[in-house]
Amino acid sequence: MNTVRLPDNLFGIVNAAQILKDGGVVAIPTETVYGLAASAYNDTAIANVFTAKGRPQDNPLIVHISSLEMLSEVAVDIPKTALKLAATFWPGPLTMVLNKSEKVANSVSRGLSTVAVRMPKNEVALKIIEESGLPLAAPSANVSGKPSPTTANHVLADLDGKINAVVMSGSSEVGVESTVVSLAANPPALLRPGAVTAEQLKEFLPNLVIDSAVLAEPEKGKAVSSPGMKYKHYAPKTELFLVESSSSDFVNFVNAKSNAVAICFAEDLNNLKVKSLCYGSETDFNTQAQKLFALLRQVDELGANAVYVHAPEKSGVGLAVYNRLIRAAAFKVIKL
Ligand code: TXA
Ligand code: MG
Repeated sequence: MNTVRLPDNLFGIVNAAQILKDGGVVAIPTETVYGLAASAYNDTAIANVFTAKGRPQDNPLIVHISSLEMLSEVAVDIPKTALKLAATFWPGPLTMVLNKSEKVANSVSRGLSTVAVRMPKNEVALKIIEESGLPLAAPSANVSGKPSPTTANHVLADLDGKINAVVMSGSSEVGVESTVVSLAANPPALLRPGAVTAEQLKEFLPNLVIDSAVLAEPEKGKAVSSPGMKYKHYAPKTELFLVESSSSDFVNFVNAKSNAVAICFAEDLNNLKVKSLCYGSETDFNTQAQKLFALLRQVDELGANAVYVHAPEKSGVGLAVYNRLIRAAAFKVIKL
């Protein structure tokens, strides 16, 4: 298949919308990561999304909307809190799991009675949804297991020849996928941390629980068991370890390794003697989030034996960065 490169102007938007209306699959920019979009009403198009990504068949998709009218097309029994959250955080990096309307193809939710919905904060994405008149199911536009794409070139590296088109736009400014919160669960549950933080959500959802998978890691000192490996994600080919420590301990630990690469904070850079990729200051979670996936894609080009990543704190947007990194590390966390 020839993957058409579309510009991110009106011409590209109109063409992307037409391809989607015709049942095609188009990678589109969003503020979090690029998404691989298809009509949420078209089972065949959804099947093609799963094939292009090599996505596990049991993993449901997020539906992207451009208006609150569209929300009532895709979800039913919408609680008042959902509307409050929408008024505060939409358009933006918050996905809400709600009860699914029958209009949404069953293949979107893989048989669940719920649907995950978000309104992205990206003008090109919103205009493509509006122009097509369709809610768009869109997982991250990467091959399953690889880091999510934050540039159009990341999308092409994974999916060129496998999808109908890519809208060539700028880098995703958030850099990690949206926060996923289930309002269909009682109490409401944070399923995936993102740029809308648990702390922000708790102002609206005082009984919010953090799902155990958010920070799931083997007990300290125990070997990684194979069930945890099942959730390895975002991983480079080079073996990756997450290191929780102070700057000086991180530097000493990594300097003692031969042929290692460090993904580190600005505060670590001066003293590191190994090849280093900096993902921001240790207090700047937003920059860490924005840079992380591109660095994880870059790491394999350096020909190292192992990569050691200095772990962020597990608060605010740092929780989202930490959550992606334990998966990239297949839960291999070193605490110094
Ligand atoms: O920022 C994002 O959310 C990006 C952009 C493209 O919008 N999309 C994204 O999609 O990250 P994906 O498919 O890579 O991740 C969707 C997540 C998965 O963890 C999936 O299991 C969860 O949302 N999810 C989807 N529908 C669900 C449902 N009905 N119940 C619970 N979890 C659901
Ligand atoms: Mg994904």
